[in-house]
Amino acid sequence: MEVKPARRRVLLVPVPAQGHISSMMQLAKTLHSKGFSITIAQTKFNYFSSPSDDFADFQFVTIPESLPETDFENLRPGLFFLKLNKECRVSFKDCLSQLLLQQSNEKISCVIYDEFMYFAKAAAKEFKLPNVIFSTMNATTFVCRTVFEKLNANNVLAPLKDSKGKENELVPGLHPLRYKDLPTSKFAPLEKILKLYRHTVDIQAVSSVIINTTSCLESSSLSCLQQQLDIPIYPIGPLHMVASAPTSLLEENKSCIEWLNKQKRDSVIFVSLGSLALMETNEVMEMASGLDSSNQHFLWVIKPGSIRGSEWMESLPEEFSRMVSGRGYVVKWAPQKEVLAHPAVGGFWSHCGWNSTLESIGEGVPVICRPFSTDQKVNARYLDCVWRTGIQVEGELDRGEVERAVKRLMVGEEGEEMRKRAVCLKEKLRASVRDGGSSHNSLHKFVQFMKSL
Ligand code: UDX
Repeated sequence: MEVKPARRRVLLVPVPAQGHISSMMQLAKTLHSKGFSITIAQTKFNYFSSPSDDFADFQFVTIPESLPETDFENLRPGLFFLKLNKECRVSFKDCLSQLLLQQSNEKISCVIYDEFMYFAKAAAKEFKLPNVIFSTMNATTFVCRTVFEKLNANNVLAPLKDSKGKENELVPGLHPLRYKDLPTSKFAPLEKILKLYRHTVDIQAVSSVIINTTSCLESSSLSCLQQQLDIPIYPIGPLHMVASAPTSLLEENKSCIEWLNKQKRDSVIFVSLGSLALMETNEVMEMASGLDSSNQHFLWVIKPGSIRGSEWMESLPEEFSRMVSGRGYVVKWAPQKEVLAHPAVGGFWSHCGWNSTLESIGEGVPVICRPFSTDQKVNARYLDCVWRTGIQVEGELDRGEVERAVKRLMVGEEGEEMRKRAVCLKEKLRASVRDGGSSHNSLHKFVQFMKSL
């Protein structure tokens, strides 16, 4: 009888946050389909467990940590990641050592960690396992992080707070990013962000970097990155177009699809601000008022905990219900990819997280960009100025501005042009993941590289 060669096992370490878990699980499914066995090492916090059989072949293990649940909310991602890395450094080493002791014929051949879970690198290095960085954000943000130190040394990051003039200037070498588009965080001091970024771009003892992007979106940033880093870079995305995997941490309210079924083609604007955004009551009211007076139908995801001081929507004045009850439909969490693919959806109001950005382009839906922090600002600028499938709304949010932006996108020629460009880009993305496409080829090379380890 022919003996099948043992499969190689890959250990994946996702960040415990929705935007990162989704793309890591898509990567896991992709690698599994290429013949690798999969182990997922997760923290207790935001532990992902799928109710479906989709991940039945995967092994899930826990990295012990004792961070209070409230830390994520209180510290916001930047500071939380620093704390999480400190907390998991030793426990991950123990966890990996246990896994290595237990392994039989399927040997762990490599550790792939989310760029923000850099604690994994030291442990893997100690056990002489190759390391691969997975960037769940885009190549341009990675490039920005590699030059942060230099920009800071030239003292051009710190004055952002005080000098209004400077923030609108273009950053040399990072066209079309302005200083205010750089991936700084409003929730963490600059020195902490610098510390975090230093770790994420440290490629010592790293074999390669894979990025959830594609060359038709970011060819110059990818070339720049390849020049800067002396290891192979593999753009293999958009992964949601390569492997489908149900990865929602929250229950999706599917009733919105029935509501969408009753609406006309391209008539609905979908409003969704990802899993981390936090809004003030007055901002929510300005948005509601602007959406109401735009006369467009809208589907709005208001995630529990996304309005400061409120469990869900109870802190909002009564006027809110009147504004949304006519043409609006509100849910706590939606099947976003299905919503964006629905013919009734003609526009997307987004915080421009990288997954949402890829999903909007992947469905040919133009975007109103309202970024909150970090990479979202980079993505918004690219949607607006490079891919030209988005309109960025800047400054304080006011109802008039919301109404104008919604009308620009949903009614008239400008929106129509953006929609056409978005559909064109969607075809390019599809081509890049198909046989012979750039991401498809890159994935093939990465798989060969993994098999050579
Ligand atoms: C975070 C960061 O904020 C983002 O900037 C970074 O690029 C990735 O990590 P998040 O804010 O959650 O992510 O945004 P995003 O990257 O867009 O991911 C959100 C995911 O949740 C998307 O895949 C989206 O489809 C999904 N989602 C969102 C739903 O399934 N339903 C919803 O109702 C809302």
